[in-house]
Amino acid sequence: MIRTVATKPFPDQRPGTSGLRKQVPVFQQPGYLENFIQSIFDSLEGFQGQTLVLGGDGRFFNREAIQIVVKIAAANGFGRIVVGQGGILSTPAVSALIRARHTFGGIILSASHNPGGPHGDFGVKYNIGGGGPAPENVTEAIFAKSKAISAYKISDAPDIDIDRLGTVKVESMDIEVVDPVAQYLSLMKTLFDFDAIRSLFASGFRMRFDALHAVTGPYAHAIFEGELKSGAGTVVNGTPLPDFGGHHPDPNPTYAKDLYDFMMSASAPDFGGASDGDGDRNMILGRGVYVTPSDSLAILAANATLAPGYAKGLAGVARSMPTSAASDRVAAKIGIRSYETPTGWKFFGNLLDAGLATLCGEESFGTGSNHIREKDGVWAVLFWLNILAHRRISVKELVTEHWRTYGRNYYTRHDYEEIDLNAANGLMGALRDATKSLPGKSFGAHKVEAADDFAYHDPVDHSVADHQGVRVMFEGGSRIVYRLSGTGTVGATLRVYIEHYEPPAGKLDQETQAALADLIALSRSLAEIEKRTGRKAPSVIT
Ligand code: G1P
Ligand code: ZN
Repeated sequence: MIRTVATKPFPDQRPGTSGLRKQVPVFQQPGYLENFIQSIFDSLEGFQGQTLVLGGDGRFFNREAIQIVVKIAAANGFGRIVVGQGGILSTPAVSALIRARHTFGGIILSASHNPGGPHGDFGVKYNIGGGGPAPENVTEAIFAKSKAISAYKISDAPDIDIDRLGTVKVESMDIEVVDPVAQYLSLMKTLFDFDAIRSLFASGFRMRFDALHAVTGPYAHAIFEGELKSGAGTVVNGTPLPDFGGHHPDPNPTYAKDLYDFMMSASAPDFGGASDGDGDRNMILGRGVYVTPSDSLAILAANATLAPGYAKGLAGVARSMPTSAASDRVAAKIGIRSYETPTGWKFFGNLLDAGLATLCGEESFGTGSNHIREKDGVWAVLFWLNILAHRRISVKELVTEHWRTYGRNYYTRHDYEEIDLNAANGLMGALRDATKSLPGKSFGAHKVEAADDFAYHDPVDHSVADHQGVRVMFEGGSRIVYRLSGTGTVGATLRVYIEHYEPPAGKLDQETQAALADLIALSRSLAEIEKRTGRKAPSVIT
């Protein structure tokens, strides 16, 4: 039976492009999740009888939330729900399923790389029919509905068994419980040369994939160990846990330290990869070498035609503004378009839809392509394996060869977290003012060529996004970029991105922080970071 339950609005349900993220106890308040799901449906039109994809990253509250979404969807008139077995679907797999089955949309239960567990975070994100995150007009409509909600509709049917494959009914809605990996795997098979990767492993090539106890575990077991015969034990931390084993499920040298240290050790295998809570981020390593996300994007672009899905060549490569210019150099050399977009995956959507870009990436461990409308961690690992399977050289050799051809963009990001909001705004304001007077000035060996507050003119819909960060560009291709995080929760986070270009014949094997030392010092003095924020040094360096 369908019930209509009276409710009162919660005022804090404004979703961002990564959905609504709150601590678990917030989501556990009676009516909180129900209100938000009903608000999503209230902001949509034309879904009667249509299909919705549903799954999550397995974090605490995932299974309870699946049951609630199913019952509200049934009461609101959806025709079918496609849900991952056990409530599991990675973010890329949801995007892939939406596109492959032409569904109305999808709901992803995740707070990405944020910690989980009873005191961790939970999140809900709505993706549209194209497979990408809901655009701002949709998220704002959801927020508006959430502020005015007075009732939600829900079926009082008993919980469904989400562990059993097959189709059951709630009210008149079908619920199809699917293998979370199957459709994603079939998409990967159209893009990559699985036979070549199998031969690579058969030749004795060894890898470790760290799923960080998050959603990519089942994908990695099935694809690397199952399909590609990478060997038992290749995948570590491969069982999704509600609290991710108490760790941050974030693939970077800080939070995936075990993998990082292992790859730098004497017993390191040939290749290392990791992905985040919901499977959209990635980190790539070789024996004794860490590949920055900016370099990874450039190297994938330079070698893309080795993968069957990209054999015809790329239309273009897009990177977020703070991502290093390494991929621009590849694009220029092979004669394809390159795009510089504001931070955030949503800015790639139009370029992908319009066929202007094929690959895209961010310095924040996100890489992807036009195969879906989210970034994709396991895809990035497979792409690397495909390239290595054809080249049969080590990661270190491939990276070094790349630098010898295109030059090396030494790159680091320094984050100053939880600084005072007014101080942060004052600092950015002063930098914005300084952009007018900086060009032509010299700081030691570095002469400012141009400076601006980055504005993006979307070539497809002609919209403008301004105030996207201050860029100080030096002669020779070095750069310092300043912006405030849009995802931090406490105070403000100042992100400083520092980059130095070393041409192919230059010094290519320096330690990163050392190679950037003078630019790092300049990044602090130029913005008066210590004077304005009291911070001598950043809280996180990646
Ligand atoms: C951060 C990253 C950005 C990414 C976003 C969502 O945003 O810098 O590249 O798209 O998380 O994963 P920020 O906190 O810098 O605004
Ligand atoms: Zn994520």
